[in-house]
Amino acid sequence: MQQIQRDFPLQALNTFGLPALADRYVVVDSVAGLQALVRAGALAGTAQLVLGGGSNVIFGGDFNGLVLKVAIKGRRLVREDDEAWYVEAGAGETWHDFVRWTLQQGWPGLENLSLIPGTVGAAPIQNIGAYGLEMCARFESLDAVDLGSGESRHMDAPACRFGYRDSVFKGEAAGRYLITSVVFRLPKSWQPITGYADVARELEAQGIAQPDALQVSDAVIAIRSRKLPDPAVLGNAGSFFKNPVVDMPTFARLEAAHPGLPHYAQPDGRQKLAAGWLIEQAGWKGRDLGPVGAFEKQALVLVNRGGARGEDVRRIAEAIRADVRARFGVELEAEPVFV
Ligand code: FAD
Ligand code: EPU
Repeated sequence: MQQIQRDFPLQALNTFGLPALADRYVVVDSVAGLQALVRAGALAGTAQLVLGGGSNVIFGGDFNGLVLKVAIKGRRLVREDDEAWYVEAGAGETWHDFVRWTLQQGWPGLENLSLIPGTVGAAPIQNIGAYGLEMCARFESLDAVDLGSGESRHMDAPACRFGYRDSVFKGEAAGRYLITSVVFRLPKSWQPITGYADVARELEAQGIAQPDALQVSDAVIAIRSRKLPDPAVLGNAGSFFKNPVVDMPTFARLEAAHPGLPHYAQPDGRQKLAAGWLIEQAGWKGRDLGPVGAFEKQALVLVNRGGARGEDVRRIAEAIRADVRARFGVELEAEPVFV
């Protein structure tokens, strides 16, 4: 069983670079080790935070509880049938390294999700998505440990209730489980997903008409490297707000007033708007409030200009929300998890 440490600094363990101390901190590198911790009562009567790569958490201040840092490793082909490869990874594996490894093995399917920061175990939490693909399209099942009882639980896709940047783990099961491994189903009838405008443009610019999966991955990496700030250089948590999904009457009103409004039709008839566009139109692109600003190349990403604390992030987020509400009558919902 790993040792529990006291007053552990978390600033280097969250990509926004926010200062915070964990009252207690432990590394979880095996299922058995975690279950031993639960059964020894280490989690009883204390707040808990499961931490992966820290790329989607905002620390408001010190964490008065136990941080469980996920470091369970391992990746393997579980099985193969006529239709698909089933590939498993430990929750502590780095997401992007896992994606590239699957491609190198000749198992395509995750390439559009290249270069998303963080761990495999966090991918189901908000059902990560990018460039025309959501993780749920490749998800088979996961294993988790119930932090109350220490029992193992196996969950399929319906049990996870995936939605846009959403799952049961952000709702009624929030904080209840530590995901220990995930199995992905990578279909053999692979077709490249190149419909997202940026991807189509990038491949065309490279003169690639029929890309293989590695070429799609490389294109996504090139786009992301141009547009998004590298957390190692400029602290951030990716998109700070979800793209708002609005009903038809709201969309019709907005489109009439703003003909250039980017929008994506949803299967249920509603329209998803681009929060980055709304924020830019509200005058926030490249603008700072204290030590936090809206990134100059992508207004949806808030960045740490240096020395930011949790309250600085909250202040600019509220100011942006208020301006977008006043100008468009649209509510923005934060994407990262506030601790
Ligand atoms: P953390 O930040 O450590 O945790 C996030 C949440 O998941 C917390 O609530 C935590 O308690 C919980 N959690 C983490 N691991 C586990 C586990 N094993 N079991 C149970 N709960 C767990 N996201 C996208 O969807 N698409 C993108 O294109 C994208 N681009 C990004 C670009 C940048 C530059 C950055 C900084 C972030 C981006 N993100 C994106 C957000 C982020 O990468 C994802 O949300 C990622 O899945 C978070 O992984 P993590 O390991 O860092 O999770
Ligand atoms: N736009 C602007 N101004 C901006 C930013 C964007 O006008 O400052 C416009 C763009 O011109 C485009 C539209 O908004 O018409 C969409 O922009 P982009 O393609 O950059 O994507 P996004 O909607 O801002 C989403 C995800 C990203 C994901 C990309 C690519 C959300 C909240 N964000 O961003 O995910 O990588 O699409 O698929 O859904 C994340 O979740 O952390 C994240 C980075």
